[in-house]
Amino acid sequence: MRILVTGGCGFIGSAFVHMALERGAEVVNLDRLTYAGNPANVADVADHPAYSFLHADIADPAAVAGAIAGCDAVVNFAAESHVDRSILEPEGFIRTDVLGTATLLQAAREEDVGRFVQVSTDEVYGSIEDGAFRETDPLRPSSPYSASKAGGDLQVLAWHHTFGLDAVITRGSNTFGPRQYPEKLIPLFVTNALDGLELPVYGDGMQVRDWIYVDDHCSGIWAVMERGAPGEAYIVGGGNERPNIEITRRVLELTGRDESLVRHVTDRPGHDRRYALDTTRLRSLGWAPEHDFDGSLARTVEWYRERRDWWEPIRSGEYRAYYEAQYGGR
Ligand code: NAD
Ligand code: DAU
Repeated sequence: MRILVTGGCGFIGSAFVHMALERGAEVVNLDRLTYAGNPANVADVADHPAYSFLHADIADPAAVAGAIAGCDAVVNFAAESHVDRSILEPEGFIRTDVLGTATLLQAAREEDVGRFVQVSTDEVYGSIEDGAFRETDPLRPSSPYSASKAGGDLQVLAWHHTFGLDAVITRGSNTFGPRQYPEKLIPLFVTNALDGLELPVYGDGMQVRDWIYVDDHCSGIWAVMERGAPGEAYIVGGGNERPNIEITRRVLELTGRDESLVRHVTDRPGHDRRYALDTTRLRSLGWAPEHDFDGSLARTVEWYRERRDWWEPIRSGEYRAYYEAQYGGR
């Protein structure tokens, strides 16, 4: 099986590239190498005989058509993925997450690809006070990021409905693990704590997320790619609901720091209070998460402790300007 993986130099995409090669697939990795795309994430497979890399943009029709030709499936991870950046500068999110997705869909249709997998997010449903989201719930995205991802999902469903494209959607929850760019909650707090810097908790820190380990998220996407019903969406959740302040305290324990590093800062505008997910549909395909939360978090912290060579160069570059814009004066 030959798979076009877009965004394979990012956090989850690179884990999926590794999984796909281990499972015997041929992988073409198409990535624009934005600030979040890191060739180091796939350096160990660069010479693998079943792997190739294409430096390109999913919104470039010619590049995408060439890459898709001869592929059995497309798995679209490529996206602008950070909510806070979408609040600072939304345009790039609309361009990649909506227009880029539509460009890929059109190429997949023209090249008659067997299966199109859109990697989306639980955030398209918005926030939920009680109970858990199901696939049939209405889309009520809150941020420019989640609105762009919902726009991408709707393009996917339209291409399925109108052109008969065999397309499926995964809607994953908050993911953590090695090689995650240190702007999201867990890698940001781990790297700050390792350096003895403050942990900026938004508002009261009682917002709840459902955490999933990156390999479980990837195995969920794989199951949907193989066995999902055309035109359907599948929620991928780890079943680990935790308030942010609890995650913060675990990170402090695992890094040997105390609560004096916690700083409550102005809340994120439009901040979703709680995400919770019903994964019955995906489990009916035979999938279940295999990694427990506490052990996976401990291993993730160890990875960051040992891999300063991976994250220190990131934190000294463009990241500084972003950090100042995002947290300076907050
Ligand atoms: P990431 O930000 O780590 O990586 C994104 C990758 O996409 C990078 O390699 C980047 O260079 C590439 N990219 C960006 N724009 C591109 C373009 N126009 N053309 C080609 N490549 C481009 O993202 P991630 O956290 O690995 O997320 C991957 C996907 O999973 C995204 O679609 C995201 O919406 C979704 N998702 C993420 C999470 C999470 O918690 N991280 C949870 C659910 C869903
Ligand atoms: O739910 C899936 C989504 O999870 C993915 O689609 C997104 O790509 C991914 O970024 C993530 O979105 P969140 O906004 O939930 O993740 P983030 O790590 O940015 O924040 C998690 C929670 O922690 C959220 O309630 C905001 C809070 N937070 C985050 C940061 C970066 C803080 O309190 N302080 C921070 O500095």
